[in-house]
Amino acid sequence: MDDLYRDNILDHFTNPRNRGLLENPDIEFADDNPLCGDHLHFTMKVDENDRVVEVGWEGQGCAISQASASMMSEHIIGKTLDEIRGMTKRDVLDLLGIELGAVRIKCALLSLKVIKAGAYGLDGLPGDEEI
Ligand code: FES
Repeated sequence: MDDLYRDNILDHFTNPRNRGLLENPDIEFADDNPLCGDHLHFTMKVDENDRVVEVGWEGQGCAISQASASMMSEHIIGKTLDEIRGMTKRDVLDLLGIELGAVRIKCALLSLKVIKAGAYGLDGLPGDEEI
């Protein structure tokens, strides 16, 4: 792994951005990684144009899942719910700056799964092919 990206991931893991749930969010969603039970809970506020203006999250998990959640929390501020619905795993991997194997990619994609499910207003996504 490139040192620059590793340092950035560790920085987000040890100093997570936007951590802490919002009061009275417009959107809220939580889910687990079924492989390990690690958990993420996202809350968001949107403006009258469905643009994200504030994000707060909580979670427990590995460095990749928590760093990914922190990076995503910054990345989605200013995006519309439609733009979030169009995000893919490529967006997350580009933020992390690394390629991951089959198991670790579930860690990275947990935040995308939770955020997109929130943007869709779903009770749960049926599977990874949806993200
Ligand atoms: Fe659980 Fe990474 S090991 S999310």
